[in-house]
Amino acid sequence: MERLLTHPAIVAGLSKVESRIERLSGSSTLPGINAGAERIIQAGGKRLRPALTLGTVLAFGKAADRRAVTAAACIELIHAASLIHDDLMDGASQRRGTPTLNATLGQGKALVIGDFILARAGLAAITAVSKPVAEVLAATTVELAEGQYLEAVDQFNRDRTEESALRSITGKTAALFRASCLVGALCAKASPEERAKMAVYGEKFGLVFQILDDLLDLTLSSETLGKPAGNDVRQSVYTLPLLRARGADPHLLDGDAETILARVRDSGIVDDTLAYCRDLAAQAVDALPAAKDVGLLADLPGSYIAKAADMISTRARAA
Ligand code: FPP
Ligand code: MG
Repeated sequence: MERLLTHPAIVAGLSKVESRIERLSGSSTLPGINAGAERIIQAGGKRLRPALTLGTVLAFGKAADRRAVTAAACIELIHAASLIHDDLMDGASQRRGTPTLNATLGQGKALVIGDFILARAGLAAITAVSKPVAEVLAATTVELAEGQYLEAVDQFNRDRTEESALRSITGKTAALFRASCLVGALCAKASPEERAKMAVYGEKFGLVFQILDDLLDLTLSSETLGKPAGNDVRQSVYTLPLLRARGADPHLLDGDAETILARVRDSGIVDDTLAYCRDLAAQAVDALPAAKDVGLLADLPGSYIAKAADMISTRARAA
């Protein structure tokens, strides 16, 4: 388990964040919106992004006050809204082991419940946090949309470049990790230099997180993932681990999804991707401001890589 998520101050802060998330996501005048939002938000998730915000506040020697807690809740709400829209785009039926909103309520209601959550987060940020934080969150949402758009543009494109995949995941995932840390630094009144360093840490860690997620999609079972495995290949989304493996085998992406997945499992994709992530993790940790109490954050990228490596080798042993 990651030390950040079990640290007593983070656990206490996350419990306040949870109450704020519940209040905000349940604040519609329409019970149907509240019920849908609640079901998806309560379905689980480790609250990693809010933990990054609180962890940054803590690293700068501050306590998580009301503004920081609300900011962290807004970040989780943006994440939840983006997953609702992502599942809608993918036509996914399950997320975190629970049926998706598009599967249970239909596409239209899922779309507007996602819109509601996103808009509610924006309203809370501007009214209950600060203009700079609201600005960061709005700019980050723009990047999320652009990153997701780039992925949609490259769907079915077997010639997708590694650079294009990297640009997409920088927007769709790493931007919110970067914002989580930057917002924490803003709430802690860190200097502009320190804020920039925390932003780099967050972005690099976000890339590690997404690239591991893409690797696990290629290598784990659906039961372990809580969502259908091999989904990216089945949907013709060619992710960075696959594109890097294509460099060693130009015919890797030939044939149907099952052929590609079988070929991928026999390739050196696991070692290559883990090494790539270790390099990014080192860059993340290097960016952390040296004079601050960043131990919990410094551990995090490495512990995610170790956990992914462990899950993959457990599956390989069981196969
Ligand atoms: C999940 O990635 C999706 C994202 C990280 C971003 C989705 C972004 C949008 C839908 C843009 C609109 C944004 C908002 C805020 C409404 P994945 O599909 O690789 O992961 P998965 O396997 O968990 O689905
Ligand atoms: Mg998806």
